[in-house]
Amino acid sequence: MICIVIVYIFSGFSKEQKRENGERKGMRVGVSIYNQYDTFISSLTESLIEEAKRLEQEKGITITLDIVSAGSSQMTQNYQVEEFINKDYDILCINLVDRTDATTAIDMAMNADIPVIFFNRELVEQDLERWNKLFYVGAVALESGIMQGQIVAQMCQEDFASIDKNGDGVLQYVMLEGEAGHQDSSIRTEYVIKTIMEAGIQVEKLGDEIANWIRAQGETRMSQWLKQYPDEIELVIANNDDMALGAIDAIKKEKPARPPKVIGIDGTDVGLEAVKNKDMIGTVLNDSKGQAEGIIELAYSVIFHKKLPEHIELIDGKYIRKPHVIVTEDNIDEILTLK
Ligand code: GAL
Repeated sequence: MICIVIVYIFSGFSKEQKRENGERKGMRVGVSIYNQYDTFISSLTESLIEEAKRLEQEKGITITLDIVSAGSSQMTQNYQVEEFINKDYDILCINLVDRTDATTAIDMAMNADIPVIFFNRELVEQDLERWNKLFYVGAVALESGIMQGQIVAQMCQEDFASIDKNGDGVLQYVMLEGEAGHQDSSIRTEYVIKTIMEAGIQVEKLGDEIANWIRAQGETRMSQWLKQYPDEIELVIANNDDMALGAIDAIKKEKPARPPKVIGIDGTDVGLEAVKNKDMIGTVLNDSKGQAEGIIELAYSVIFHKKLPEHIELIDGKYIRKPHVIVTEDNIDEILTLK
């Protein structure tokens, strides 16, 4: 995991060296992530570096990646974008801090005629529609919520007694939500429950708290719930693996007589490990590697005016969407071999 990313430049060249005999030889990419301490974003960043190295070799070009973290401040991110533009980078990749506040970054990029690939934190469609050089790479939030619900529903259908501790026929759950206003929080929260209920399972919510994707916050919320409901919680649903792992930390400390089941989303290394050792009943793989590949291939295709590889589809000339994958004890070994 990259803790302090920040500048990773593995091949550099000046603006004047960009073209040789009129032919472009490389691309310079400015990447700003919302926060370097986010586990999923760290693995996406590592994959970006790997994918750029791969493409350099494959195409015989040089790629400069300048990766900075905005430390969760949109103002800092706007300065970073300004700096990338002053350095005359060819393309910007932005993981927005505030996905509803893309205007400043877009205005600056449009004025300088520098294309932008937004990723992971999805901006509103009207913003993306402002210019034909704005793109988005990510997953479909709805799909992750539905798949998380399917894991729970299948488990209930196969062996409800193992979850329904008090035998009342109702699933008592608590929900750990990511960030207020993040598409992946609200949509996952809604669709996981919808999917469980549509499978004919009755649910009762005992608690619902925001924990900002952070393991320590997940642990704090879960400790409070365990004090309030020492033996009533049957399932912990978390919008991501880190918060699920925080809940597991709390469960291991508080040691309730009948520990609740826990489920996450992301399939980070630590998340998959928790499925493997049965701390979590499952997770949903959020394909960081595939998203990184999409970002780097799209940057290359835009800058070099080349077609995208066949397996990467650019929907409506703007979106690359990578599918999620259900992970449970049934396929965890196979998933781990693909990592
Ligand atoms: C989500 C991911 C979270 C967190 C968030 C940051 O897609 O599931 O773990 O990384 O993005 O925007």
